[in-house]
Amino acid sequence: MLKPKVIDALNKQIKMEADASQFYLAAAAWCEDKGFSGMAHFFYLQSEEEREHMMKIFKFLLVTGTRPETPAVDQPPMDFPSFRSVFEKSLQHEQNVTKTIHGIVDLCLAEKDHAAFHFLQWFVEEQIEEENLFRTILDKLDLIGEDGKSLYWLDKELGERKE
Ligand code: FEO
Repeated sequence: MLKPKVIDALNKQIKMEADASQFYLAAAAWCEDKGFSGMAHFFYLQSEEEREHMMKIFKFLLVTGTRPETPAVDQPPMDFPSFRSVFEKSLQHEQNVTKTIHGIVDLCLAEKDHAAFHFLQWFVEEQIEEENLFRTILDKLDLIGEDGKSLYWLDKELGERKE
């Protein structure tokens, strides 16, 4: 059995991952509506990935003897001022997730919850990749600008995402 404070924090993380999944779904819809199906594909996959993160915590709680909460999700933004802002908001979101994951790791150490500490190492590593993913895209936008040709190229590249 996990420590009660850790269970509470993991339930909150389930909601955060669920919110992330909805946020990326909204981003996909916005891109697809603008005619950028490659970017939409990228965000659909990202949305699925966040659901997998949520389920990973969900199942972890169950196998360690706790029934997880099934949270209501927040309404994500329906509109974005620019393509850049979609990726900026994504990076901000990932930075927030990193902060909360690190906070739960600290809590595990304080509570001496070794099982949860071990489980969360996967998320610590995953967040390095997640932040890097969006930082790289923003770097590319800095480099190529945001005119039609540049966005067409980025759309093509993001459309090649496999998983
Ligand atoms: Fe599940 Fe992208 O953090």
